[in-house]
Amino acid sequence: MSYQNIVILTGAGISQESGLGTFRDNGGLWAEYAIEDVATPEAFAANPRLVYDFYNMRRAELLKDEISFNSAHQALADFESHFAGQFKLVTQNVDNLHEAAGSKSLIHMHGELQKARCLFCGHISMWEDDLDEKSICPSCQDTRGMRPHIVWFGEMPLQMDDIYSLLADCDLFVSIGTSGNVYPAAGFVQIANDAGAHTVELNLEPSQGATLFKEKIYGKASEIVPAFLKGLGR
Ligand code: APR
Repeated sequence: MSYQNIVILTGAGISQESGLGTFRDNGGLWAEYAIEDVATPEAFAANPRLVYDFYNMRRAELLKDEISFNSAHQALADFESHFAGQFKLVTQNVDNLHEAAGSKSLIHMHGELQKARCLFCGHISMWEDDLDEKSICPSCQDTRGMRPHIVWFGEMPLQMDDIYSLLADCDLFVSIGTSGNVYPAAGFVQIANDAGAHTVELNLEPSQGATLFKEKIYGKASEIVPAFLKGLGR
């Protein structure tokens, strides 16, 4: 079967072998931190220092020498560069490993650690350093308005109209390394099923929505993603 319109969704599991922890596995980030303390607009209003520190720590982690993309990120970028049809990679991840591997047609639906957004003028800037209350917006020069460009719980993920129209047209939907706990991403498989697409789960273990997928392959992303994409041909 050759596919013409492919949508791939990735989650924290694809970056696990790159050295970045997931959220809900044993010892994951949400075992160490309470979501309501660090990942909501209310948390940022109540205790901005704690929220800044949480994302500063995660942003700094990306710059460590030992953190680099793995063969799953690489295989996706290689596939995209040779694929003749429509291809879109939608990631829930806020790390930069897909672009580091060379992915181009990419939507960061939950934002990006290496960007900051000004609450006053809305400008989005690249941001590799720490962020705090004194950070200055490079566009409007205002202070106290810079926040991580991250979609927090209770906020609308980015580019949802684009994503829904891609899903409605796709003939293959592949979900990689996500536990299927967080909507709207967890609902993408159903939209793709309704569109008549073939749907595939590639994960370490069955996700919450595993039964919704027509095909499932379980194992480490670094092994099963390259093998699956090779099997698709071009
Ligand atoms: N290869 C493949 N899958 C893996 C690997 C691996 N090496 N390691 C872990 N996994 C799988 C786990 O089995 C789990 O099902 O990756 C999944 C990670 O799930 P979560 O930690 O819940 O991460 P994710 O699904 O991306 O979370 C969604 O939740 O907190 C929010 O905004 C955050 O984007 C995130 C969203």
